[in-house]
Amino acid sequence: MSMNAPRGTQDILPGTSEIWQYVEEQLADLCRRYHYKEIRTPIFEHTELFQRGVGDSTDIVQKEMYTFEDRGGRSITLRPEGTASVVRSFVQNKVYGLPNQPTKYFYMGPMFRYERPQQGRMRQFVQFGIEALGSDDPAIDAEVLSLALNSYKELGLKSLKLVVNSLGDKESREAHRAALVRHFDPHREELCADCQVRLDQNPLRVLDCKKDREHPAMETAPSILEYLNDYSKDYFEQVKQYLDVMDIDYVVDPNLVRGLDYYNHTAFEIMSEAEGFGAITTLSGGGRYTGLVQEVGGPETSGIGFAMSIERLLMALEAESVELPTDEGLDVFFVSLGDEANRAAVKLTDELRRAGIQVDKDYLGKKMKAQFKAADRLGSKYVLVLGDQELENGVINVKNMTSGEQQEVPLGEIIDHMKKELTGGK
Ligand code: HAM
Repeated sequence: MSMNAPRGTQDILPGTSEIWQYVEEQLADLCRRYHYKEIRTPIFEHTELFQRGVGDSTDIVQKEMYTFEDRGGRSITLRPEGTASVVRSFVQNKVYGLPNQPTKYFYMGPMFRYERPQQGRMRQFVQFGIEALGSDDPAIDAEVLSLALNSYKELGLKSLKLVVNSLGDKESREAHRAALVRHFDPHREELCADCQVRLDQNPLRVLDCKKDREHPAMETAPSILEYLNDYSKDYFEQVKQYLDVMDIDYVVDPNLVRGLDYYNHTAFEIMSEAEGFGAITTLSGGGRYTGLVQEVGGPETSGIGFAMSIERLLMALEAESVELPTDEGLDVFFVSLGDEANRAAVKLTDELRRAGIQVDKDYLGKKMKAQFKAADRLGSKYVLVLGDQELENGVINVKNMTSGEQQEVPLGEIIDHMKKELTGGK
């Protein structure tokens, strides 16, 4: 047995975890401004939720789920995505019956898919996503797209492309589906084994096949946009108009097909166009879904959402050389020498921390000089020195590591003094 982390997973160590925290805080703040509230759902669910929610014919359900039987003989699956769980919770908690609709949620947390690991494709990855349930106003589609784009723009990304499509309503999709079958059926034998099955189960997904991408029939395949009925056409027009009023650039790609079964009307993806981003260019994706709430046992309710992985977001930040303002330094390092001074240092360190100041100290019994060195390595802004001499005089030596200035501060005043120093005297 290997003692390394399983393939497709990673450790996020200090140095990088600060970036994660910063990004997570920014995304949460963005959601606050758009008035999306956080929801936390379990990391595992009954397998059936994903089979019915995500769709039996999808790659996720057929090939990628971490499914196991628990000790009670139930089939359990580690969540491969967030939407099905959010919808399950919305139904289970009867949130649809509450007065304030639509319900606007955001979530952040690990998802699991048994995929072939490569850059930007992990087996455990963290998704940030939002779902707005209970409104089929095209303005909320535009709101979701705006939030999705701004989550990248506000972090400093520029090389972004928003691709939108409409998958239409049920009637439009059925007409398109029939046209796709008519179109691909004569080429059935030339398509890959997966696509032969897709042609019967969900022909739209043939358009998304990586193996058959070059097949000539792909290019001439009927576009969903030709099969949209009046309602769907008008819906899509309105979404685009709202994007226009917000000055959001987008391209319409009638071949944009999402890998999950639950979508109708608006579907979209955001791509990175940054050089060196890697083979997978999709940063995030989402869309509108109508049948999902009913599928899970709730009343007919429409929703729209999107999700991104933080891993791909960080890759894009790296590809565009965006530096995030994370603070990895330390405010105060406490240097002490001698038993009595060490005891006083422990007490004062504790008091300073409780007063809101970030403090660390030596725990390796180092000599004074080595403690100073450690403070330097940690990038400490201040060093407090307490030796026998200082203790006798009832003072602490405070050294500003940036200016090199030193001053003696009475022991009883050290907390107020440090507070003032660290806030620039304010
Ligand atoms: P999805 O397209 O399957 O949609 O995934 C959304 C995003 O999750 C992807 O664009 C990508 O950023 C990230 N992602 C997916 N798989 C991996 C992986 N193996 N490694 C790293 N990142 C990955 C959904 O999950 C839908 N639930 C989105 C949604 C929300 N639709 C409506 N509401």
